[in-house]
Amino acid sequence: MNNIPPSILEKIGRGLYRERNHPLCIVKERVFDYFDDLAKIEIDVPYVSVEYNFDKLRVPQNHPSRRPSDTFYQDKENVLRTHMTCYLPQIGSYNAGDSKLKYITCGDVYRKDSVDATHYPVFHQIDAFCIVPNGVDVKKDLRDRLSGLVQRLFGEGTKYHFLEDSEVEGVYFPFTVDSLEVEVEVQTPEGTKRLEVLGAGTVHPDIMKELGLSHQQAWAFGLGVERLAMVMFEIPDIRLFWSHDQRFLGQFEAGKVTKFKPYSKFEVCYKDVSFYLSHEFSYNDLCTIARDEDPRNLIESITLIDEFHKNGKTSRCYRITYRSLDGTLRNSEVDKIQAAIRKRVVSELKVEIR
Ligand code: DAH
Repeated sequence: MNNIPPSILEKIGRGLYRERNHPLCIVKERVFDYFDDLAKIEIDVPYVSVEYNFDKLRVPQNHPSRRPSDTFYQDKENVLRTHMTCYLPQIGSYNAGDSKLKYITCGDVYRKDSVDATHYPVFHQIDAFCIVPNGVDVKKDLRDRLSGLVQRLFGEGTKYHFLEDSEVEGVYFPFTVDSLEVEVEVQTPEGTKRLEVLGAGTVHPDIMKELGLSHQQAWAFGLGVERLAMVMFEIPDIRLFWSHDQRFLGQFEAGKVTKFKPYSKFEVCYKDVSFYLSHEFSYNDLCTIARDEDPRNLIESITLIDEFHKNGKTSRCYRITYRSLDGTLRNSEVDKIQAAIRKRVVSELKVEIR
């Protein structure tokens, strides 16, 4: 049942969000400072029960996020947390007194996912929960706080939109009602873009009841730290956050948001792999294997470039793009990784190479 590969195990405890001069920590501190009335909780151990990560948050039993192709399982009952919301149903046990009623947390979360410039199987989230006194409009309170946060992070006058829980927008979280998402308009080299930065809502009445807070109301929100940091610091590739290179790390200083300066241009190398699919195959598992065989983070993306059907079989061709972030990309190294991936997709995912 355990499907956590060495490449993931090795990242547990790295604690990027605690390194004072790291962009992820700088963003965390900004958000924490803004919500200075909430208790700050950091829980280092990323293992959590399926019960807290999914069940008690009302995630449906058949929801795709529970699949072993999406989530890292330690054993049948425990996973690497897939979101920091996993502490919401257990706030009573994690901290004493009133702080259980208002808290903000940050930590590393784990998901099997695509390989591209904005996805990495370990990333960071901030999650908050806040009781609002009866009589106060909880929806308005949440929106006011989030509007303030956007201005604080992206500057006064930044344009943003609330997407609401409606049939049209389809914003939905099983643990909130009146759910919403915030989209911020950001400037990128390709022009103005709308970027979804966080999910939020009023905590579901069933969960409030379970927490022994039946007659009270609370809001919650969760955001991805890398997403914010990539825009705020203009960091083009999510792998850079894991860099040990001083040319990267040396650019940042606690409390300051500065634009990242690329330190060189790097050649790229494409390798394709084509095979007939099997029942065992999933794209996420291909990505997990690739990550596992690529300790130096040379792989930039894995994309489907061709698919056809023949004699009842489906053939796919995936392009693996290699690009080094610190300057060296040796052919021999790329060939070695590519060969190892081919071998493992055959032995573990049972595909038939063409
Ligand atoms: N946990 C959600 C995710 O990972 C994000 C989220 C949405 C957190 C709404 C919240 C919330 O606390 O209220 O996608």
